[in-house]
Amino acid sequence: MILLLKEGMGGSNMFIRVENLRKSYGAGESKNEVLRGTNLTLGKGQIGVILGPSGSGKSTLMNIIGGVDRADSGSVYVNGQEITACDDDELTEYHRNSVGFIFQFYNLVPNITVAKNNEIIANISKSPLDIDAVL
Ligand SMILES: Nc1ncnc2c1ncn2[C@@H]1O[C@H](COP(=O)(O)OP(=O)(O)OP(=O)(O)O)[C@@H](O)[C@H]1O
Ligand SMILES: [Mg+2]
Repeated sequence: MILLLKEGMGGSNMFIRVENLRKSYGAGESKNEVLRGTNLTLGKGQIGVILGPSGSGKSTLMNIIGGVDRADSGSVYVNGQEITACDDDELTEYHRNSVGFIFQFYNLVPNITVAKNNEIIANISKSPLDIDAVL
């Protein structure tokens, strides 16, 4: 899974800061504490690789940083914006305009071409990439 964060229009330092992030699934005896106080910082232009065994919470962390999923507690800041404090509309804006995801299982619409899949996103993006270049 690859998560790309686009620099904001403001030109300030792009960075990611994750503080004491907690996320669990389920409840009671079947409660699965996946993120137990995760911390992470990444400077503008830095490339981070998250390594760990299957099920250790890599995708869970990426989904929360990318605004796809919500944490139980803790904070994520991206380029000065507190992602964990966003309401649903703000999270959609952030996800749409600042985040690129290459999912483990692609998540393409299966009955249309790859170019058409890109076109769908280009149509709702403020500053879409050139589709031929992307391909
Ligand atoms: N939506 C969900 N509901 C319940 N449990 C979940 C959910 N998503 C993830 N989990 C559980 O959380 C844990 C972490 O999953 P996650 O997908 O983040 O791991 P991963 O490190 O990305 O694994 P992989 O290397 O296989 O991609 C696993 O035990 C998984 O079963
Ligand atoms: Mg994963």
